[in-house]
Amino acid sequence: MASASPIAPSPTSARRLIDSHGRVIHDLRVSITDRCNYKCVYCRTGELGAQYPELGIEEYLRLIKLFVNLGIEKVRITGGEPLLRRGLIELIEQLAQLRTLAGEPLDLALTTNGHLLDNLAAPLKAAGLNRVTVSMDAVDAPTFERITRVPGSFKNVLAGIRAARAAGLAPVKINCVLLRGFNDNQIEGFAHFAREEDVVVRFIEFMPLEEGRLWTPEIVVPLAEIVARIGRAMPLVPLPPREPSETARRYTFPDGVGEIGIIAPVSQAFCGACSRVRLTSDGKIRTCLFSQVEHDLYGRMRAGEDETALSNYIVQTIYGKEARHHIGEPEFLKPSRSMVHIGG
Ligand code: 5AD
Repeated sequence: MASASPIAPSPTSARRLIDSHGRVIHDLRVSITDRCNYKCVYCRTGELGAQYPELGIEEYLRLIKLFVNLGIEKVRITGGEPLLRRGLIELIEQLAQLRTLAGEPLDLALTTNGHLLDNLAAPLKAAGLNRVTVSMDAVDAPTFERITRVPGSFKNVLAGIRAARAAGLAPVKINCVLLRGFNDNQIEGFAHFAREEDVVVRFIEFMPLEEGRLWTPEIVVPLAEIVARIGRAMPLVPLPPREPSETARRYTFPDGVGEIGIIAPVSQAFCGACSRVRLTSDGKIRTCLFSQVEHDLYGRMRAGEDETALSNYIVQTIYGKEARHHIGEPEFLKPSRSMVHIGG
């Protein structure tokens, strides 16, 4: 059982997912494959490692419905690379039919490396997807392809981003993981890119979630340094958070064109406002990116538990969500899986 607390909630009475630290969980990230067509240096070792099983699209849908009936309002589809997954469009179509407890459509988003997005942006929008986030770690092709280790990848991703904008998957967000010595020379270029392409560029501090052992405190480019670097090139104007669980510090420029976000899980952890929980491609609940344990929801479904029993299990599991991560502290332990197998 997830929670060791003697005052865990009475499962059947719960209409919201609340953890023992008082955080309301309304954001679910679902990985639908841990396969990926890129081998980004900060994520993969370059070897084809172990893979976890994938569920059927109907099975993801059944699990997601349980969460939505417990108060989840945002669903983000991730991977691996979710555009590799057969049945994705059908999944989005089905998810677009679901309603939150308040009777609203879900906020449906997807995180992709963008490689296959050029052809899929319009069908995804038509299926009911609201937004995409594209991972992109450099604005010039040679640096980009040194990171992804896939020749020719840059032009695909650029085309994918433009197709997403044209399809109305707005705002298109770009995630850039900054690594000192690999792509920290791209910061100013990305500020221009945000303005020219009318996208939101979000710099993310590198977290120790890779398959290899690249992470050190020194390789992290901290928020303060990013702000100072962009600010020297162009003055930045802070924007207010849109919601309490916002992970990014947001900025624009004096003319209001372009948006920059900085996500600083290492130098300015935001665990206290975390509203997220994850479901892996093999149907396990992860209550934190850095969890040491997973909770086998799919195993219970396969064993024949009904919706009430499964819902109770979700409620109990989320109640036991970790207070925070311990990156940079002596007792830090790497999580039981790497990012590509967890889902972003
Ligand atoms: N640290 C921070 N961000 C990461 N991502 C992948 N690995 C890491 C890491 N170790 C980002 C990807 C993607 C999102 C899902 O998470 O770039 O955009």
